[in-house]
Amino acid sequence: MFESLPKRVSVYEVGPRDGLQNESGLVPTADKIAFVNALARCGLSRIEITSFVSPRWIPQLADGRELAESVIRPPGVHMSALVPNRKGLDVAIAAGMKEVAVFLSASETHNKRNVNKTIADTLRAFHDVVGPARDAGLRVRAYVSTVFGCPYEGDVDPNKVLALCHTLLATGVYEISLGDTIGVANPLQVESVLALLTSEIERDKLAVHFHDTQGTALANCTAALAAGISTVDSSVGGLGGCPYAPGASGNLATEDLVAMLHAMGIETGIDLDKLVECSRMAANFVGHELPSKYLKAHTGKQARARRQLEREREEA
Ligand code: HMG
Ligand code: MG
Repeated sequence: MFESLPKRVSVYEVGPRDGLQNESGLVPTADKIAFVNALARCGLSRIEITSFVSPRWIPQLADGRELAESVIRPPGVHMSALVPNRKGLDVAIAAGMKEVAVFLSASETHNKRNVNKTIADTLRAFHDVVGPARDAGLRVRAYVSTVFGCPYEGDVDPNKVLALCHTLLATGVYEISLGDTIGVANPLQVESVLALLTSEIERDKLAVHFHDTQGTALANCTAALAAGISTVDSSVGGLGGCPYAPGASGNLATEDLVAMLHAMGIETGIDLDKLVECSRMAANFVGHELPSKYLKAHTGKQARARRQLEREREEA
């Protein structure tokens, strides 16, 4: 199973968007700006910083424009934002974004609850977004949500996902992120869904986006890597969830992912210590503990014990 693991994984950080959209309290814009700037100094080269959606639907990210206009954009760091329609795209362009992401669900009910449209109408609306975005020089990513299960409809037909992927690629998106929106996938399901998708779609056009509701995100991610996928979405600290998917908890934590990849000899280009500092920063401004396992293991007593052991080894 593990013969064909990638040598390098591209980590697509969604904490500032998928993470903060789900916080019950509003995070001050200044904290978000400092957070994104700190993430950009970790070696992350892809960060989804906000969304330009209706502030009535997602008040947590109503400050997207100010954030996008204020963050420092180091060379080589691609910053993206989620947009549902032409209005969102226009604001994204005005705010200086060079990449946007469109999104829809593989199940009708979740799509309707999330964007108030049928899947067919959502795809039609993408024609107003993807082409014009590309004409304006932006890269466009796409998400397909509820690929592995829907909170309202249960099982989702992988052939429907395959058909959506073909349609999205034909509109001109460069990559499709396959969302386990409510964290119900298991590694065998990931293997079989990806076997179907990669029989017709190039692996480098696909990414995976696992929420960790039942603690299976890292296992699912490993199954995806074994299937030849080398782009993984994650959220620092494990922040996140979709407000229109009951039961959706945080994404796979970026530091848990990066720690595992580095231990397996897979490069990411990310500085894990700096990443953990970003997680601590986020825990401070959201005002609660974050679910990341690596963060817990490297905070407090265990970290002190480990540093003591390292000092003793150096002195011996
Ligand atoms: P609607 O109410 O049907 O929209 O919402 P509308 O076109 O009828 O417009 C209603 C009002 O919203 C109007 O304002 C528009 O101007 C305004 P009014 O005239 O009443 O004052 N409006 C906007 N304002 C700002 N930015 C915009 C925008 N568009 C319209 N872009 C809409 C439709 C799509 C806008 C709404 O349903 C929406 O914003 N939904 C967003 C939901 C969302 O962000 N969900 C979470 C992200 S998806 C996710 O987390 C899953 C993912 O992580 C992958 C995974 O885990 O699977 C990506
Ligand atoms: Mg998500």
